[in-house]
Amino acid sequence: MQKKLNLVLFGPPGAGKGTQSEKIIKKYNLTHISTGELFRKHLVEGTKLGLEAQSFMDHGKLVPDKIVIGMVDDKIRSTTGTSGFIFDGFPRTVPQAKALDKLLTSVDGSISVMISLDVPEEVLKERLRNRAKISGRTDDQDDVKIQTRIQEYREKTMPVSSYYEGQGKLVIINGVGTIDEIFNNICSVLDPLKELV
Ligand code: AP5
Ligand code: MG
Repeated sequence: MQKKLNLVLFGPPGAGKGTQSEKIIKKYNLTHISTGELFRKHLVEGTKLGLEAQSFMDHGKLVPDKIVIGMVDDKIRSTTGTSGFIFDGFPRTVPQAKALDKLLTSVDGSISVMISLDVPEEVLKERLRNRAKISGRTDDQDDVKIQTRIQEYREKTMPVSSYYEGQGKLVIINGVGTIDEIFNNICSVLDPLKELV
């Protein structure tokens, strides 16, 4: 089987994961898996999964691992003919990262690289407050929810970068600058990897 480019795009709330994902999927023809977007879709459709996730998301807390992993498992297994995945907002805990490794192994794949977007906290808050005006996302609407999301990131999600660093897969990129500048820096990491697959 042909090897695929599987990317974890990592960073705190407001780091630009969604913004950069849109550009990356177009250039590299990857399948985008954003767990936040999948949950919001379930919520709109009123599914059981959406209802289970809602109370956690509304408070800026992480949704329990079991629910998230089951949803990603379904998505990976139901995707055929892709050149690879970009994981946005997943994995967010070390158990999620371990589960993803297992899952990819079972479909003959692995993570190629984790790109971590580095953005100072004040810039994150400013971006999310601005996005609140247009996003309609309830978790952008007040500073307490934003602070809880950043706290969850620090306590539970940051260790995920050490997990990939231990596998020699972590690349940190400055997430402050214009969207195109950041994208160009991401491409300079992905282009050589794309040639290898
Ligand atoms: P999720 O949807 O993943 O949200 P998040 O991590 O809080 O991240 P955001 O989507 O807010 O930020 P982003 O990095 O995508 O930034 P964006 O590109 O939009 O998760 C939501 C919730 O779902 C979680 O709180 C949790 O409850 C649950 N959940 C999801 N996944 C989970 C998991 N794996 N485990 C457990 N629970 C999970 O950019 C932000 C803003 O900045 C935008 O307005 C954008 O236009 C602007 N911007 C972007 N780049 C730039 C730039 N370079 N300069 C200026 N502005 C910029
Ligand atoms: Mg996002």
